[in-house]
Amino acid sequence: MTQEKFINSPYVEQMRKITNGLYTHGWDERNGGNVSYQLLESEIKPYADTGKVLRNESIDFDASEIAGQYYLVTGTGRYFKNVIDNPEGDTGLVQIAKDGHSVDILWGYNDGAQPTSEFPAHLMTHINRQHVDSNQRIVMHCHPTNLIAMSFTVPLDEKTMTRILWKMQAESVVVFPEGLGIIPYMTPGTNQIGEATADKMKEFRLVLWPQHGVFAAGDSMDETFGLIETVEKAALIYTTVQSQGGKFIQEISDADLENLTHRFGIKPNPNFIMGKSLISGK
Ligand code: 13P
Ligand code: ZN
Repeated sequence: MTQEKFINSPYVEQMRKITNGLYTHGWDERNGGNVSYQLLESEIKPYADTGKVLRNESIDFDASEIAGQYYLVTGTGRYFKNVIDNPEGDTGLVQIAKDGHSVDILWGYNDGAQPTSEFPAHLMTHINRQHVDSNQRIVMHCHPTNLIAMSFTVPLDEKTMTRILWKMQAESVVVFPEGLGIIPYMTPGTNQIGEATADKMKEFRLVLWPQHGVFAAGDSMDETFGLIETVEKAALIYTTVQSQGGKFIQEISDADLENLTHRFGIKPNPNFIMGKSLISGK
């Protein structure tokens, strides 16, 4: 049986489409953003020879817990607007080497590219989300404008921020019932921001990087992108309310939130479901 080329696989196709979606939404200017997709050997085999290593790149943290796993991941410094036409240059398929301190490149990065500078945050997040749900094989980072803007004007408190976002549209609590995790502002591309993000990912699928962007995890490109779309739409509504004067005279009440969770059979974060009204501040 002849092997289809990996570039024609559904995984590369999904990566091309999603990076284009992130770019056209204005959430990934220049080289902003990165995406990783954990693939199974059985998914890759019809398209690529998993035994053929093109080159090896070191990583300076310990990923031995996921040694042997495969990831299709965007390259560092690569412009998302270009990935759709150049997936073999701007993305790569890697396998975490046995020692956990390097990756074998099996496909892509064909002009010398390397995995994203946020690879520590991606892999550490994958490790922790796999503990929660092994179907969650996508991690996505981008720079959504309104959510970032809120990180300048709203206290960086998970309950406060989550409740505002939940109350901006009925959809929010249904799509992210656990709420939004928040880490302090930290230097991007470091192991430290990776550790802090992954720690929050034990509890949340959405983690805000203040004054920078968001990290999201999910079980498909659509689902993970949808999480970001929903939180960013809520942030856009909040921004619009602020531009209309910022005074709430109506709101989605806590009882309304509870009713939504009953209607959709979901469990909201019990620490966030009751709190201050946006109208009275009490
Ligand atoms: P990379 O180009 O290394 O993926 O970095 C983009 C980014 O958004 C950093 O946070
Ligand atoms: Zn970024």
